[in-house]
Amino acid sequence: MENPVKGTHDIIGDEALLYTEIEERCKTVAALFGYQEIRTPILEHTPLFLRSVGESSDIVHKEMYTFDDKGGRSVTMRPEMTAGVMRSIVSNKLYAEADLPLKYFYLGPCFRYERPQAGRYRQFHQFGVECVGAPSAHLDAEVINLGYHCFSALRVPVKVKINSLGDEESRNNYRTALKEYFAKYIGQMCEDCKRRYEINPLRILDCKVPEDAEIVKGAPKLRDYLTDSAKHYLDQVLAVLESYNIQAEIDDNLVRGLDYYTGIVFEYHAEPMEGLADVGALGGGGHYAHLLKDVGGPDYEGVGMSLGLERLFHVFHHLNGDLPDSFGLDFYVMPMEPKYIGDCAVLVNQLRFNGMMVDMSYEPKSFKSQFKTANRKKAKFAIIIGEDEFKKGEFTVKNLSNQIQTKVRGEDIVNSLRTMLQEYYDSMEMKYFEEHGNE
Ligand code: HAM
Repeated sequence: MENPVKGTHDIIGDEALLYTEIEERCKTVAALFGYQEIRTPILEHTPLFLRSVGESSDIVHKEMYTFDDKGGRSVTMRPEMTAGVMRSIVSNKLYAEADLPLKYFYLGPCFRYERPQAGRYRQFHQFGVECVGAPSAHLDAEVINLGYHCFSALRVPVKVKINSLGDEESRNNYRTALKEYFAKYIGQMCEDCKRRYEINPLRILDCKVPEDAEIVKGAPKLRDYLTDSAKHYLDQVLAVLESYNIQAEIDDNLVRGLDYYTGIVFEYHAEPMEGLADVGALGGGGHYAHLLKDVGGPDYEGVGMSLGLERLFHVFHHLNGDLPDSFGLDFYVMPMEPKYIGDCAVLVNQLRFNGMMVDMSYEPKSFKSQFKTANRKKAKFAIIIGEDEFKKGEFTVKNLSNQIQTKVRGEDIVNSLRTMLQEYYDSMEMKYFEEHGNE
């Protein structure tokens, strides 16, 4: 009982700050691209996912947290966010009011009953966007580019893998070819593939069983079955991406694990880095021609993508290590004797109201132990308060990175401390440019 549910995890303190940092940068990028936030419920009616994510997907087949609520309705904790966004567009008739395309970004937890392993959780978090109602190769490229910008904003180097599932005609022809090819092997393939063979043979290309992967290697390639217009669309998307300096790599076996995709699909993968274990795709998405209609809306096409925040965190942390000290407290206030605790508390309150990050201990503590706490909390400065300070109306402020002490007059303490902080940040910036050049 004292352990978290298998596949879930707590995010605490510095780690939570890093998550916030990642989320904020992604949100900023979405805003730059003109996307507005949408927050949809975690619980949705189960049929929504059957109709969208699809019954041939592993997600619906075996990974959903589905249960009957007390009123006997089958509900599901969302395994992904796209279906809920489409449902919300229909429930709120958003398509009737706004200019097309509708552009939304979202952020929140998702739930999949998967086998936990590196980078794979049962509760994880996604940031993503959906763009609905004005199909164009430019918008497919915009969404791919938006995700790419998020990685750039976090300085995480990624490559983009792309494929086209083609139009209806391409997919039908390809499905027939796959069935013919796999017919002679399917008896020896895994149970999942046997099921996939019957409902959606394209899914077989996604199989991770090593023996099956060998068979998959010899399968016909989707690109040989694309109609001219599907090929042309893929070329257009590639050309727009190239004009943005994104070299996407075509991956013939990229089919993605959700049934709603038609046309362009893509994924982001971290560039190989020393010591970085592979955690799978950092994000993925694609074009969906019929999803909105399938959940009861008008026949508008859309495109979207989602990034997995746990995986993104893993790579970001690998590159940057723990939080830089600039994330710590600004000041740690230290009473030299317990009788000054009350005065210190008033000062702390004043500084907090003036926008500074400040803390202190209300317990009588030795000087040494207060310094230890100040360092653990990554305080930039300690403010030391004792008898002298009160007699002379002067406070001692110690820079905890270079140990230099400064005296500050009590009457202009807020302004003086602000100036000291500003100087501290300026010197950090100088140091950054000395180390990284003026990028
Ligand atoms: P997805 O590929 O299933 O796509 O998930 C997107 C990302 O979520 C993955 O690339 C991965 O980083 C992360 N992710 C998925 N499952 C897990 C897990 N069990 N643990 C940790 N991270 C995970 C979608 O969900 C689509 N809704 C994307 C989309 C949006 N397509 C169109 N619009």
